[in-house]
Amino acid sequence: MLSLKERLAESCKCLTKIFEEHKFPIPKVAVMLGSGSQSFVTTLDQRFSIPIKDIPHMVAPKVEGHGTSIECGYVSRVPCAVFAGRIHYYEGYDIATVVYNVRTMGYLGVKNLVLTNAAGGLHTGVKPGQITVLKDHINLMGVNCLIGEEASTLSKERFISLEDAYSWDWRTRLYQRNPNIFQVVYAGLTGPSYETAAETRYLAGIGADVAGMSTVQETLAAKQMDMNVMGLSLITNYCGGIGEAGKISHDGVLKMGLKHAEDLKVLLTQVIECCE
Ligand code: HPA
Repeated sequence: MLSLKERLAESCKCLTKIFEEHKFPIPKVAVMLGSGSQSFVTTLDQRFSIPIKDIPHMVAPKVEGHGTSIECGYVSRVPCAVFAGRIHYYEGYDIATVVYNVRTMGYLGVKNLVLTNAAGGLHTGVKPGQITVLKDHINLMGVNCLIGEEASTLSKERFISLEDAYSWDWRTRLYQRNPNIFQVVYAGLTGPSYETAAETRYLAGIGADVAGMSTVQETLAAKQMDMNVMGLSLITNYCGGIGEAGKISHDGVLKMGLKHAEDLKVLLTQVIECCE
């Protein structure tokens, strides 16, 4: 049985060979796209596609609305690796599998990670259709991907500071370009059920603005590997108990993703242009 580091080394060896074949450098930015946001990949210049199943040890997404490839190319001349979909904890994988693709990027030497997601608004200050920038998160998944011997081999430090989980510098540069950005606290839950009205009140009460089923574990994995993280949430609905939230469905979430794909493209491009 190979160790985590040995598996990461094998994945990265394979990815590096493919990059070399395409004369593509180690990406400066990795992007993990949330539900219904795949069309962003069409903005990549000199795009080529790597099926995730072709890379040893990597796991391809299966949930509807998530692609199964890494799309590589340039955004405003910045080399990017864009995951057209992600793995969620609610699919039943162990947490190390959920964050493996992010860890591969860290091991490869990618310095910047953008995590996009679909999320529910926990109060009327964040409205469906709005794209928000994460300033912090609350991990309510009941798990932490940094637990355990194997995970600890990926950093010198056992205890990881999360004071700058979502890069202050990166957000500041983005704000200078786009003062309209709205910053939120993201509550990370396992799903796959949406929130009850009581949970919505509870989450808003403890300081969260939006709720979702991804992102926080990927951020933990990335911070352990010293990456800069930016998080973007497209608000696809109000959480249970607010307005017409009784009608929340994955289908509705995907439709909102498609409807606001252009706005996400504009903001993501700005985000990539002002990375470190
Ligand atoms: N709750 C949790 N995750 C979500 C939601 C929600 O309302 N909408 C999209 N992802």
